[in-house]
Amino acid sequence: MSDFFQNKRIWITGASSGIGEALVYACAEEGAHLVLSSRKEPELRRVATTATEKGAASVIVQPLDLADHTSIPGIVSLVLQKTGKVDILINCGGISQRELAMDTTLEVDKKIMNINYFGTVALTKALLPGMLTHQLGHIVTITSVTGKYGTPMRSAYAASKHALHGFFDSLRAELGHTPIRVTLVCPGFVRTNVSINALAGDGRPQGIMDEATNKGMTPEEAARRTLRAIRQGKEEVWFGGREVVGIYLKRLFPAYFSKVIRRVKVT
Ligand SMILES: NC(=O)c1ccc[n+]([C@@H]2O[C@H](COP(=O)([O-])OP(=O)(O)OC[C@H]3O[C@@H](n4cnc5c(N)ncnc54)[C@H](OP(=O)(O)O)[C@@H]3O)[C@@H](O)[C@H]2O)c1
Repeated sequence: MSDFFQNKRIWITGASSGIGEALVYACAEEGAHLVLSSRKEPELRRVATTATEKGAASVIVQPLDLADHTSIPGIVSLVLQKTGKVDILINCGGISQRELAMDTTLEVDKKIMNINYFGTVALTKALLPGMLTHQLGHIVTITSVTGKYGTPMRSAYAASKHALHGFFDSLRAELGHTPIRVTLVCPGFVRTNVSINALAGDGRPQGIMDEATNKGMTPEEAARRTLRAIRQGKEEVWFGGREVVGIYLKRLFPAYFSKVIRRVKVT
């Protein structure tokens, strides 16, 4: 364990569950000041209690709905009044999909984009002026292997994660002359509630733990790898199981990859 994160002010979205919750505990163990956000305040309070027990320097619970974009600037002002500045923003909140494109309503497409893409962009844009004023900050976004290639049953999800890559690659280039860093983290399957919470074509949560998700990496390991990427100032990292091979295949042998991905049984 290093002390890289000690006393850093770290704002984590998606902090109530899964990878975000594991990130909270990993940062708490290094003595960070934490801001925890997601929609479910009671869950955030549960995580905050454990984070304090694990050694967090301080914990603020700040409920936030990534789909409610107009509320975000006010929430950022509230947080900055309490913390003064944010050293690291970890955009982890998000929602997935389990349905064919033709059976997914446009409302569901929009909902997933609104949470995963526009919500993340809104929060980042609201925090950026403060980071520029202080000439300090690290913006970390959990995208997905699905942000690097599309798979069946994930059209809206893949679109939202690809969009994040476009946005943050551009932002990184724009911030190249500043000390502010931008990191994209692309996990493969991680054993969380993501598939249970994933939206079916009609917008209802599918309510099922997928086999691939259940066999995935632990959220603790995903958090460990994310913090290592932040420490090392990486621009982009990928981790997971066999699904990571697809990133190389798509880049090196796109025609072959296209034939493989249509045969893959993706739940
Ligand atoms: N697990 C995987 O296999 C995997 C792989 C690649 C990438 N990811 C990404 O990792 C991130 C975390 O997912 P997870 O696997 O930890 O799944 P999870 O356990 O379902 O956690 C999702 C988190 O996002 C929050 N969230 C959902 N909708 C929100 C909204 N409208 N506003 C604010 N927060 C919202 C949830 O909190 P509330 O319900 O309290 O709002 C929860 O904290 C997501 O961006 C996901 O796409 C996951």
